[in-house]
Order: sequence, then C-alpha cells, then structure tokens
Amino acid sequence: MSLASDTLVKPTASTFPVQAARAQFPAVVGAEPFVFLDNAAGAQLPQNVLDAVQHHLIDHNVQRGGRYAKSVEVDRVIAEARVKVGAFLNAYDPHEICFGMNATSFIRMVSLAIGQTLKSDRCEIIVTDLDHDANIATWLALAPMGATFQWWRQREDGKLHVEDLVPLLSERTRLVACTVVSHALGSLVDVTAVAKAAHAVGAEVFLDSVHYGPHAPIDVQAWDCDYLVCSGYKIFSPHMGFLWGKFDKLVALPTFREDFIPDEPPFKIEAGTFIYENVAGMGAVVDYLADLGSTLGGAGGSLRSRLRHSMEGIQAYEQTLSEKMLAALNDVGATIYGVGDPARASERVPTICFNLGDLHPAEVVEKAVKADLGIRDGHMYAPRLMKRLGLTMERGAIRASLVHYNTHEEVERFADFLRKIA
Ligand SMILES: Cc1ncc(COP(=O)(O)O)c(C=O)c1O
Repeated sequence: MSLASDTLVKPTASTFPVQAARAQFPAVVGAEPFVFLDNAAGAQLPQNVLDAVQHHLIDHNVQRGGRYAKSVEVDRVIAEARVKVGAFLNAYDPHEICFGMNATSFIRMVSLAIGQTLKSDRCEIIVTDLDHDANIATWLALAPMGATFQWWRQREDGKLHVEDLVPLLSERTRLVACTVVSHALGSLVDVTAVAKAAHAVGAEVFLDSVHYGPHAPIDVQAWDCDYLVCSGYKIFSPHMGFLWGKFDKLVALPTFREDFIPDEPPFKIEAGTFIYENVAGMGAVVDYLADLGSTLGGAGGSLRSRLRHSMEGIQAYEQTLSEKMLAALNDVGATIYGVGDPARASERVPTICFNLGDLHPAEVVEKAVKADLGIRDGHMYAPRLMKRLGLTMERGAIRASLVHYNTHEEVERFADFLRKIA
C-alpha cells in the first residue's frame, strides 16, 4: 500500500524521537560530554552509513564498468543511490542526480557552462549578499565571459525579500543564484517565489541547498528551480556532493567530458572518478531518514513520502531548538544577527550567528572549548555578509549550529555557559 504524504498526520516536535535518533550516531554519543554545535560545517554519521561505507570498501572497492560481479555491484550501488537521492530531492528522474566531490566544484562547473551560453542581451546574473561565497565568487568569475551582475541584498532583518528581487529582474537576466537558507544567519528564503519571479522574465534559478539539506524537506518540483546543489557531508554522509538539474537543462549544458563519456546526464556532468564509497554512504543516509520517517508515523508510505515525513519531523523539532537557543541568547543580551525573536523561529533553522558585547568571538569560542561546547567563530566564508553586518573578516562573529541529534539538555548547557561568561 502506498500512502500520499498529505494523507498522513504531520509529525510534531513532541513526538520526535531525539534520543533514539541520537543513539544511532556513535560519534555523537561517544564524544559526550562534548556537544556538537558546529554542524553547519559538517554533521556526524549514523551507524548504517558507516556500515555502508565499510561494506563498500571491503566487498567491492573496484572501478565500475567491469563485467565481473564486484564491478557490477558498484554500478548497482551508484544507480540505487541516484534513485534514493532523487527521492530525497523529489527529482523528476534519477538521472538528474549527479555525484561528485563537493558543492563548490559543481557550482563552478555549472557556472562555467552557463558562462559559455551568455548572450549580449541576456548576460545578467543576480547574486546575493547573504550567500556562502561559493555561490557568489563562482558567478562573479564569469565577468571575463561577458556576465554582468545585480546584487540582491538582504534587509536589516537578515532576510532576502522577494519584493527586492523583482525590480532587479528583466529580460537581460540569465540566472538568479541564491541560497535556500543562510548558512551563517539561518534565515530561510522563499525559493518558490524566487523561481516564479525569475521564470516570469525567462531567467533560470540556481539554488544552493547545502545548508538547507539537513533541516527540512527539499522539493525541487514544488520549488520549480532549475539547478540545485547539496553537500552530502552536511546531511550525515561522508564527504561528497551532488548536483540536481532539470533533465533538459542538464542536456543543454555545455560541460567538459572525455570523448568516451556518454553525452547525457548524469554522466556528462560527472568528471572523472568520484568517491563511490561515499556515494554508498549518501544512499544509506536516505535509508536512515526514511526509517526515521516511518518511526514518525509515515510507515507504509512511498520512499518520498517517508522522507518528507522525516524531514517535517526534523523541521518541527529543530524549531523548538531555535526557540530555546534564541531565548538563551536574548537573556544575556547577545547581538543576534538575523531573526532573533523566538516567536519567529519558523522563519529560520537553528543556525545562529551572534556576538556578546565587546567580547572577542575567538575568546568566547576558546572558553566554550573548555566547557566542551564545539561552536565556531570567524567569517563563515561569507565576506560580503560580514561587511554588510559591519563585522571584520578577522573578527567575524560566533555561530552555533544545531541539527536533529542535538537535545534540549545540550541547549541548556550552552545557556549555562552564556550566563557564566556574558
Ligand atoms: C551554504 C554553503 N554553500 C556552499 C558550501 C560549500 O560546500 P562544499 O564544501 O561542499 O564545497 C558550504 C560549505 O560550508 C555552505 O555552507
């Protein structure tokens, strides 16, 4: 029996099985009392993902494309991972999923391809001052190929407002490159509205979903974007990345490939050998999340439906983490960059950027280390954002970033720490 996700009861924070989920992450449990609060830089892996990587390396660590069983098995694992990751994104077709090393190299590959298609009357690219520099600098590098640029700037509330994008769009716009959620401030972007506005003038949309991936359901069909990139290592897999594009858009992209590589997606996008064991790991992440979706009441549904259920459960639970983190930071008078009101926690993910009075961010983080709290300070790879916030690259800010294996008790420890040093 297959159940559509909308016939299921939406999971709530109170039913989220945080302890059962957490127990599946040996690195998280094994490091206690250390608290992982730097998940935006890379998350930990559940046991089934570690098993999948090990199994791959022991049982079929060979090149694909051979006729012997072990090689055939590598091809099967990669094909299966495409189907699973396709369900995770709600892709139209698994062949739209391209595997590779990381998000940055995919953004560079797509941008170089787009650069070759620029026409003098359609050469404008819109970038934002909220994005990770991987999704800005890569596009700005197209200037010698004839690209011109418009900046979609965030407002004082740390959010990108689609009303500010609309006047920047014209028949000159080739592409809008923006994030789905800020990796630094945690603010969500209304990407469905971005795609609608961009398509109305004939432009394409490239979404950086690297930071959004672990926090809430991705739905490329509902968003109607054209390209989207993720880093597996932010979504509980080992280091790897994947690109999605609408099939006909990928067909049209002029990419580099050797003569013996088929000129069709995903192969024309996947330059050289990638890390097969980590792709096997990413496939296992989807299994982990689908099982979580079943636990949350989605059992019996399609893979997509269980994944949606699981990510909705994660989203609901993480909202309570955001509320509690924001309350703790407000209590000590922290400067929160972006949405700081706990009542507006639904506008963000639990990735929170702040400073504490005149205290140097590095000093705060060093003190946190002594309290077994793993937070980060610095520029968050976002020089334009730092400038916009009036912060220097050397000093920057402090970022605490949580995912679904973090607990309310851990937030309370963080709050105790803040009270001691503020
Ligand atoms: C929002 C965002 N985009 C892009 C990147 C770059 O990802 P990768 O390390 O996979 O190249 C990061 C890395 O932190 C990120 O947070």
